Amino acid sequence: MGKISVVVDGRTFQAEKDTCILEVARRNGIHIPSLCYNSEVTSSGGSCRVCLVEAHQGER
Ligand code: FES
Repeated sequence: MGKISVVVDGRTFQAEKDTCILEVARRNGIHIPSLCYNSEVTSSGGSCRVCLVEAHQGER
């Protein structure tokens, strides 16, 4: 699986291609509020929208 670069609040992190932004943020000490997401349950999350972030692809 390939790596991607993810920029959160101006900080760049490397992550596996299919890693969700919430997980990348958590692993790097960045708090994104969440309610329904549980990394232990693959089908959880995506319904409450508490963790909604603005995402851009490519250079800004
Ligand atoms: S915590 Fe992300 S949609 Fe609920």
